Amino acid sequence: MEISPTSKPLVTDIASSVDHVPSNYVRPISDRPNLSEVETSGDSIPLIDLGELHGPNRAEIIHQVAHACSSYGFFQIKNHGVPEKTIERMMTVAREFFRQPESERVKHYSADTKKTTRLSTSFNVGSEKVSNWRDFLRLHCLPIEDFINEWPLSPVSFREVTAEYATSVRALVLILLEAISESLGLAKNRVSDTLGKHGQHMALNYYPPCPQPDLTFGLPGHKDPNLITILLQDEVSGLQVFKDGKWIAVHPVSNTFIINIGDQMQVISNDKYKSVLHRAVVNSDKERISIPTFYCPSEDAVVGPPQELINEEDGSPAVYKSFTYAEYYDKFWDKALATETCLDLFKASTT
Ligand code: OGA
Ligand code: NI
Repeated sequence: MEISPTSKPLVTDIASSVDHVPSNYVRPISDRPNLSEVETSGDSIPLIDLGELHGPNRAEIIHQVAHACSSYGFFQIKNHGVPEKTIERMMTVAREFFRQPESERVKHYSADTKKTTRLSTSFNVGSEKVSNWRDFLRLHCLPIEDFINEWPLSPVSFREVTAEYATSVRALVLILLEAISESLGLAKNRVSDTLGKHGQHMALNYYPPCPQPDLTFGLPGHKDPNLITILLQDEVSGLQVFKDGKWIAVHPVSNTFIINIGDQMQVISNDKYKSVLHRAVVNSDKERISIPTFYCPSEDAVVGPPQELINEEDGSPAVYKSFTYAEYYDKFWDKALATETCLDLFKASTT
């Protein structure tokens, strides 16, 4: 609970008292959001109706999944089976958590990226030069009973609400993994079977209003290191996805989740599916909350392209070597989002 010397104050507690962005949050000119150049009204990511997955249109939905994963790396889903009430309660308890006094929140503070429950700020305060306009609470949540006793006790409903949400999202993920497996031409359980015991983490991201949103990021452009991400966002825009050389804003649609392919799925698909750059920008008048669930292999799971997708003769050699997820994940945190991806470090040797 003691705050380490490398800690930085939480941005939540700075935001309300400044009328300009402190210098340690200011990005170099070459690396700013350029908000006027973002596509905000045209093309967005595909919306897929998961309700049809178990009916006569299954093949068509699987086809839509394949197209979204290969062309966008992102899609939205409706009729996903997570109850509206569960979503609402999760969002409310997240908001209540960040509205607590600093003295309560800071009990969970740690800059140690290995801790399984922790509050921090920016991305990795131990290794980055410019800070991001974000605080976040990260939680491991599979199996729940291994971690729930570390989770915050305040707000009082935090553990119950978060456990219910995590359980419901996991059930959705398992359905998605089958659909994605099938969309790659693999057996239904193939992707799930490569993940060892499976891992599930959550982040509660809190982006306070920012007096100069053109100078800084909530989160700069990055690719997610895990397998697949299920993002819940409130009604405030901020997420942007990189597509065909420009950034497109993904505006919130109520009762949908945003799904994106992470680096491990790119590896398992042997590059058919893309882990795509995305970022979060901030705005001057509204706080924003987003709650990503990062589904991943267990630390000791060995990840690599499956034999079924490798065929030297028809020009599909393995693009990646095999590695443990722990090796990959360590590299990701070390890099402090400084390079856009660590996938290149795990390419198969071409010599
Ligand atoms: C993330 C992320 C986007 C958002 O946490 O990895 O991309 O909209 N978040 O907060
Ligand atoms: Ni992300």
